[in-house]
Amino acid sequence: MEALRFTTEDAVSLEGDLHPPEGPAHGSAAICRPHPRQGGSKDHPLLWTIRGELTRVGLFVLAFNFRGVMGSGGSYGGGRAEVRDAAAAVGRVRETSGGPTLLCGWTFGANVALREAVVVNGPRAGALEVFAGLNSPALLRTLGGDDGAILRQFIPWPFTGTPTAFMAGRHVRLEAGWPPDLEDANIKLSDLGRHPAGDGRWLVGRNERGNVLTAGLNDDTPHWLVSGTTGSGKTTALVSAVAQLARDPANRIILIDAKHGKDFRHLAHLQDLCGPLADDVDSARAALTWACHEMAARYSGGQDTRRLIIVVDEVQELTDDPLTLAALRKLIAQGRGASIHCMIATQHPTADALGDRTIGKNLVGRLALRVIGPEASRVAVGSKTPRADYLLGHGDGYACAPTATHRVQIALFDGDLSLGDPGLAEWPEANGDLPERASDFGGDELAISLVVAAEDKGRPALQKMCEEDGLGKPGGGRAARLLQLGRDMRTWLVINDYCLPARQPDTHPAGYEIAPNGKVLSVCLPSGQAGSL
Ligand SMILES: Nc1ncnc2c1ncn2[C@@H]1O[C@H](COP(=O)(O)OP(=O)(O)OP(=O)(O)O)[C@@H](O)[C@H]1O
Ligand SMILES: [Mg+2]
Repeated sequence: MEALRFTTEDAVSLEGDLHPPEGPAHGSAAICRPHPRQGGSKDHPLLWTIRGELTRVGLFVLAFNFRGVMGSGGSYGGGRAEVRDAAAAVGRVRETSGGPTLLCGWTFGANVALREAVVVNGPRAGALEVFAGLNSPALLRTLGGDDGAILRQFIPWPFTGTPTAFMAGRHVRLEAGWPPDLEDANIKLSDLGRHPAGDGRWLVGRNERGNVLTAGLNDDTPHWLVSGTTGSGKTTALVSAVAQLARDPANRIILIDAKHGKDFRHLAHLQDLCGPLADDVDSARAALTWACHEMAARYSGGQDTRRLIIVVDEVQELTDDPLTLAALRKLIAQGRGASIHCMIATQHPTADALGDRTIGKNLVGRLALRVIGPEASRVAVGSKTPRADYLLGHGDGYACAPTATHRVQIALFDGDLSLGDPGLAEWPEANGDLPERASDFGGDELAISLVVAAEDKGRPALQKMCEEDGLGKPGGGRAARLLQLGRDMRTWLVINDYCLPARQPDTHPAGYEIAPNGKVLSVCLPSGQAGSL
């Protein structure tokens, strides 16, 4: 990509970026962006997609900002002066290559492009064909009122490329359905080639261009949310992923299906399962609590470095149980550093059904299958577009990672399962205690907890002190866990011959003096009301 500037007939300097074709050049194209005043953004994924398609079919592509927008000079010209911008862009991009020039735009940009094309004379341009998205009945059916997308495509004559290039763009494709040659909804995993080796990756299916799509449990997407209405293909997608992940000896798997485990039953003897298939709330709670203890062991230097993958189908069945929810929240929030990853599926992608907003926030990878309505789509996809409520069902989905979004048809697992016996015959009974780590709390809270424990005070004193020090009043459960940590710390100090003299509230830094063998350690409380330890 080359950033460049060029000048219009009326001497306005515009900024743009020029993208070379992926292969030999057959022509050029300019993209007129939507105007920010019209609610458009220069970085809309639709435009990237169009740009990608155009470079792929062998065009130099100039994407530019109209006058008055971002780094371009001049000021807004009411859509009339902008025609000159489009003309200048066409002139500039035609310097890069012979062959036809495509001028395209979206919303405001489309109107400008349309007018520019109308005023162009001579053999270099002619309105060979227009695809006006909204004129197509299929698009009209699927576009929601808030989409407001107008797509016009002007193809200067003669043009030998593929005029349907735009329709292959993922956002346009979203609305237009799969191209006929890709609408096969029964893609077999075995037809996609070899399983990706290691790194927590699995083959998801084919994307809109027919390419094989791989996803991973990695730093970008440590955890995945799989959403879709009933029958959309969630379990099918999970089974396909799990069957592949189980082939890697670096993975261990926990399977939870709180709705009786019916759909996971055939995976119950999958190789490298940590324990039995958890098929109700009690066993799910036990399995997740076990995983929390495993996480704590790993953080305290445990030896097992294998990836622990927790797969939960129908998670909405579990989130009413506070302990299960707490365990899940903890694993999702803190698992990554301990190589613990979660794949969570739900029929009801709403913040409430997930039990907790932080859960949704930490599920960075999204596999959105067909959902009902724009709100569910928003949670499923993690953003307003693309719209998962326009998907076709039966494994038609979006795979969304922070770096890319792909339309994908999920592949059906058709291989042999690698079987073995679960590591544990039964999940240890969950006694309600989730292991706490000091890093769950801030340093200020820990300092307070130690002071309160040293003074043999209880939870109310701890809550009061946190509140007075501007840390907010911790809830009962959190305060109890914090106090326990403070007591553990005190015990450790005492065992190790540290003494805890009385606090002197008015000294600064005030606090405790701990003098092991003449050494003084210091712990500061947030307000400075207690200091040396
Ligand atoms: N990737 C796919 N390719 C082709 N067909 C699929 C695919 N995924 C699902 N289907 C079809 O849809 C049906 C339902 O799929 P699945 O059981 O995975 O849906 P679900 O979202 O888990 O539904 P529920 O919420 O009821 O459990 C399957 O039996 C199959 O016929
Ligand atoms: Mg299911």
